[in-house]
Amino acid sequence: MATVTSTASPQVQSAAELSTRVQDPLWWRQAAVYQIYPRSFADSNGDGIGDLQGITSRIPYLSSLGVDAVWLSPFYPSALADGGYDVDDYRDVDPKLGTLEDFDAMITALHRAGIKLVADIVPNHTSNRHAWFQEALASPKGSAARNRYIFRDGRGPNGDEPPSDWDSVFGGPAWERIGDGQWYLHLFAKEQPDLNWDNREVRNDFLTTLRFWSDRGVDGFRVDVAHALTKDMTEPLPSKADLGAESDNNNGLHPFWDRDEVHEVFAQWRKVFNEYTPPRTAVAEAWVHADRRARYASPTGLGQAFNFDLLKAGWNSGQFRDIITKNLAEAKSSGASSTWVFSNHDVVRHATRYGLPVPGPAGGSQDGAAWLMSGGKEPALDHTLGERRARAVSQLMLALPGSAYLFQGEELGLHEVADLADEHRQDPAFFRNRGVDIGRDGCRVPLPWTRTGSSFGFGSGGAHLPQPEWFGAYAVEVQEDDPASNLTFYRRALELRRELQTEENFEWVEEISPEVLHFIRPGGWRCVTNFGSAPAALPPGTVLLASSPLQNGLLPADTTAWLI
Ligand code: GLC
Ligand code: CA
Repeated sequence: MATVTSTASPQVQSAAELSTRVQDPLWWRQAAVYQIYPRSFADSNGDGIGDLQGITSRIPYLSSLGVDAVWLSPFYPSALADGGYDVDDYRDVDPKLGTLEDFDAMITALHRAGIKLVADIVPNHTSNRHAWFQEALASPKGSAARNRYIFRDGRGPNGDEPPSDWDSVFGGPAWERIGDGQWYLHLFAKEQPDLNWDNREVRNDFLTTLRFWSDRGVDGFRVDVAHALTKDMTEPLPSKADLGAESDNNNGLHPFWDRDEVHEVFAQWRKVFNEYTPPRTAVAEAWVHADRRARYASPTGLGQAFNFDLLKAGWNSGQFRDIITKNLAEAKSSGASSTWVFSNHDVVRHATRYGLPVPGPAGGSQDGAAWLMSGGKEPALDHTLGERRARAVSQLMLALPGSAYLFQGEELGLHEVADLADEHRQDPAFFRNRGVDIGRDGCRVPLPWTRTGSSFGFGSGGAHLPQPEWFGAYAVEVQEDDPASNLTFYRRALELRRELQTEENFEWVEEISPEVLHFIRPGGWRCVTNFGSAPAALPPGTVLLASSPLQNGLLPADTTAWLI
């Protein structure tokens, strides 16, 4: 567990200060946003599935953590073919998670606590249980109902070959055949048919959905696979051999990733966001070439886009430095603010990634995929090193201008669960890609709140994904009053960040060792991270917080310190 050095005490925020922060239309520019994966956060009725009342009951915890906003992963009615990213109805709450009244109670309580709510919206595809898709299946070829999706005839003499050889992101073909012989496109699971964004009705219906939630007080939206909505389906469709990889496409010509027309959609969304006071915000999930990210983040578009560059970086000061410099410059030129993220519901937790051996001589990226495939056996995971480095990079991130996105459980230093039994797995990536991809369930295991007891305090029943024995040691209860815990460290870092963060200015300070990154923010707030193995000297000043204890006044390896 973490050890914290903390020497200066923060100023408590007054009610007036709190209310100013809540009203600020630019609140999102430097927000700490905490992602809740609702089924795995807190279960209020003991059915093993986290729910909205569970979230409401834990608002005191979110307040004590000190986050500015919650990003709620999908909570809509869903068969959970893809953890809720298969939406049956965009304007309701999954009965397994609660009701619209529970939603209203939750958002009211969050706002009362000064916490904003960002709702996940999934516009690329509906679920196959959505009323529109059911109507499409029941309607003839060429009908208006089919035209809300992407239906095509197959190739070959009987049309029994798919319209193209494209693969779905989760493995297997991207086309599924239906009863009358037509095929529909699904870039993800077959339970997630892609919508046709050339269709006016589709466009208008999403505007209705954005207003529906904005009217209920939602402060912003996280836009799922924002870079896939508009597609060029002109025939003949290119073969997959002619398509580049998703992230390589930086020319806007790929038939489904990152096409230029998608920004017309978001310009329309922006108009809706600006109908509200303060304007609703949005952040794009867009796995696009770094050079094209700014289009999604533009003030006439969604306003912010996730930047996954640090998430993909290795333990390497040079990579960190370049990524930070580039992204801050990009944000400045687009008028957005940068975003930073190390963990979310789609990737191996960063405490684990940083505890795996660094691949390649230059410290290439370590995504943990091979380790997961081995059930967590190979290569050996160094838990302590992983937690230590994860704290160091998280503290660095929390000192950067821009928004920091945190994933539930990272404040506990939680590791990925690698050894879930096959029969417990839920991720479609596992089922569609047997033997190649084990899926993302290991970061979605319900949180441990207490050291022992039924599902470690997650709820009074079990947990929908089984928690391992070692989860108890990471529980909130265990860390709550421990001044040296990971949780105490996060609380302190978030508290200081709120106090110290003013203008978005940032400047590198040159260090003798290239393995030490040092930058300064307004007010003389300095952040120094040691990526090297030898202890490094610190600049003069008062140490406010360090991610691991200092050694004789020096900054040890794998450690970040803030000074003023
Ligand atoms: C996004 C989500 C992921 C989901 C996919 C399909 O990448 O983050 O969890 O599986 O979209 O909706
Ligand atoms: Ca429940």
